[in-house]
Amino acid sequence: MRLVPWQPDDLLRRLDDVVSVYGEAMGYRAELLQTRRGYIGAHARRPGFRAVATLTTEGRLAGFGYGYTSGPGQWWHDQVRTALDEPDRRRWLTDCFEVVELHVRPSAQGHGVGARQLRALLAMAAGATVLLSTPEADEQTSRAWRLYRRFGFVDVLRDFYFPGDERAFAILGRDLPLAERAAPEDAPGIVGI
Ligand SMILES: CC(C)(COP(=O)(O)OP(=O)(O)OC[C@H]1O[C@@H](n2cnc3c(N)ncnc32)[C@H](O)[C@@H]1OP(=O)(O)O)[C@@H](O)C(=O)NCCC(=O)NCCS
Repeated sequence: MRLVPWQPDDLLRRLDDVVSVYGEAMGYRAELLQTRRGYIGAHARRPGFRAVATLTTEGRLAGFGYGYTSGPGQWWHDQVRTALDEPDRRRWLTDCFEVVELHVRPSAQGHGVGARQLRALLAMAAGATVLLSTPEADEQTSRAWRLYRRFGFVDVLRDFYFPGDERAFAILGRDLPLAERAAPEDAPGIVGI
């Protein structure tokens, strides 16, 4: 498999595959995926957009991740801003890259693909901090949580509810740049894996 950087048009060209990986990874139903498809297409045009993809030797999409500069007027940013007190807003949102999606097809999980994607994405990201949201889960058994903790993400908000979603989320963050030692997996960046 190989990890590649994606331009906005690369993601848009493979939007069907992106939505399929997303649906498999999150276990979402078709209706919800159609809504997300529209959002993902629009996200690719946001300032500071960065994306990575993992392709199999046959060119099949095994995983992807993307994010952009977090700013006022964006729904996610505004929800998080409202929930933070002033010092934390300054601390986390002044110059922030949001990791919006990070997914690996279930059949490809557990081989370091997610870690390599996250490392590459953060290496390309502009900003002083990075934030993401992830469903609340058992930190010991959730692969996503273990991954984020390995990368040094700390709690920014816990048990947070976005309007219209009944699941509890955590908002996790860390400073950028990613120090060499912050994520010990041996992913050297955009290379064959
Ligand atoms: C979360 C997610 C992106 C992580 O991707 P992943 O490829 O499964 O994760 P990794 O391979 O980096 O880490 C998984 C395991 O591989 C191990 N690993 C890391 N590097 C490795 C390597 N080079 N070789 C073999 N194994 C390795 C890690 O120790 C890790 O073990 P652990 O899960 O027991 O801690 C992926 O599991 C996923 O898409 N999950 C469903 C959707 C989701 O939760 N997305 C995030 C929501 S915000």
